[in-house]
Amino acid sequence: MEFAMKLTILGGGGFRVPLVYRALLEDRAAGRVTHVTLHDLDPGRLDAIVRVLRQQAQGYPDAPGVSVTTDLDEAVTGADFVFSAIRVGGLAGRVVDERVALDEGVLGQETVGPGGIAYGLRTIPVAVDIARRIARLAPDAWVINFTNPAGMVTEAMSHHLGDRVIGICDSPVGLGRRVARALGVDPDRAWFDYAGLNHLGWLRAVRVDGVDLLPRLLADEAALTSFEEGKLFGADWLRTLGSVPNEYLNYYYSNRETVAAARDAEHTRGAFLLEQQQRFYETMRAPGTEPFAAWDATRLERETTYGADVREAAGAGERDSCDLESGGYEKVALALMRAIALDERTTLILNVRNRRALEPLDAEAVVEVPCHVDANGARPIVGDPLPGHAVGLVTSVKAVERDVILAATTGERAAALRAFALHPLVDSVAVAQRLLDGYRKHVPDLAYLRD
Ligand code: G6P
Ligand code: MN
Repeated sequence: MEFAMKLTILGGGGFRVPLVYRALLEDRAAGRVTHVTLHDLDPGRLDAIVRVLRQQAQGYPDAPGVSVTTDLDEAVTGADFVFSAIRVGGLAGRVVDERVALDEGVLGQETVGPGGIAYGLRTIPVAVDIARRIARLAPDAWVINFTNPAGMVTEAMSHHLGDRVIGICDSPVGLGRRVARALGVDPDRAWFDYAGLNHLGWLRAVRVDGVDLLPRLLADEAALTSFEEGKLFGADWLRTLGSVPNEYLNYYYSNRETVAAARDAEHTRGAFLLEQQQRFYETMRAPGTEPFAAWDATRLERETTYGADVREAAGAGERDSCDLESGGYEKVALALMRAIALDERTTLILNVRNRRALEPLDAEAVVEVPCHVDANGARPIVGDPLPGHAVGLVTSVKAVERDVILAATTGERAAALRAFALHPLVDSVAVAQRLLDGYRKHVPDLAYLRD
């Protein structure tokens, strides 16, 4: 029988699916994906993306086949891997997540702070339904969760899929790459001691041949300010911490400034993306439009680079072009998929259940840490304990995530209020109350929360 490797992408009408397909096309090794099924609720979006993929596939006689469906059960049945990359409420929902919080003077961002809580409340019920269906219809499939807020969404899905769901983010690997370049070392030869939660982690050591080079970097002013996180946090703060934080920690360490900048900005990140993507899907809907007229695959791939909002808010500018070239999510996802499918043992920083990797979190908590990956899946590697300041943040944010999951799975409004009120970036219970009311008013998907 001919070898078949089936990948299903949930959120298959999404703007960044061409990036994933590009990575699949360029994967020349044995055991690569032979068929992709795209699932989306909106057939118009699926149609637009399929036309781009067809264009990308030109000149690749062995391109993976593509099929589409709006039926979730059909999409997951028979899948070897499922990428979950959904956006409940669409980008319009993201704009509300951002705006309601900013109007209260607190951070409005899709993953961090109250915006992330609102997004989690909306997303988790849907993610849990997906997890249940996969557990029933494709119990042997591996699920790779891209959906933000990735930490809490992966944890909620793990209640039904156990270790078969693995969350991914490209920010730790990007950080490692940038630090390696600043040090002048080959990232493939370095061991990155990174630990925390998704968008809430710290790079604590960079070991090459057993020697930690991070102290050398911290001592070198020029090297330290030559890369993105160095510019964002400043040499002094990095030395004070003794580690390099994930860029998203800027929302904590410069909360006042990032909130002020976002309030003053002409548009939020969500509003920018909404406008950009509306243009794309509208163009593609026009009868007879070929992708290459206005939105060829090259332009789409260029315009869909990730995560500019941290940098925009901090005025850190565009990411270095060499960083973009080395790829984001799609590369991490592909590396993970290959390691599992082909039993190619490797180490990746992933979101998995903690077991005993990170004190003081319990075994079920999903954390973001280096993992050994092979055909048996991903096993977190036990690392050094976090320093006190990091324990403080990680445990309080994990408690918030758990209240979000509780609210999303039981409908308990009290748990949702606790989540908003106890988040370190919300400074008043009265504000939390108004956030909850504001989100419930603007977001129909939150009607399930009851007193
Ligand atoms: C980064 C983050 C992701 C985020 C992505 C896209 O890579 O790690 O979690 O989804 O950027 O962000 P954007 O603002 O472009 O939607
Ligand atoms: Mn991420």
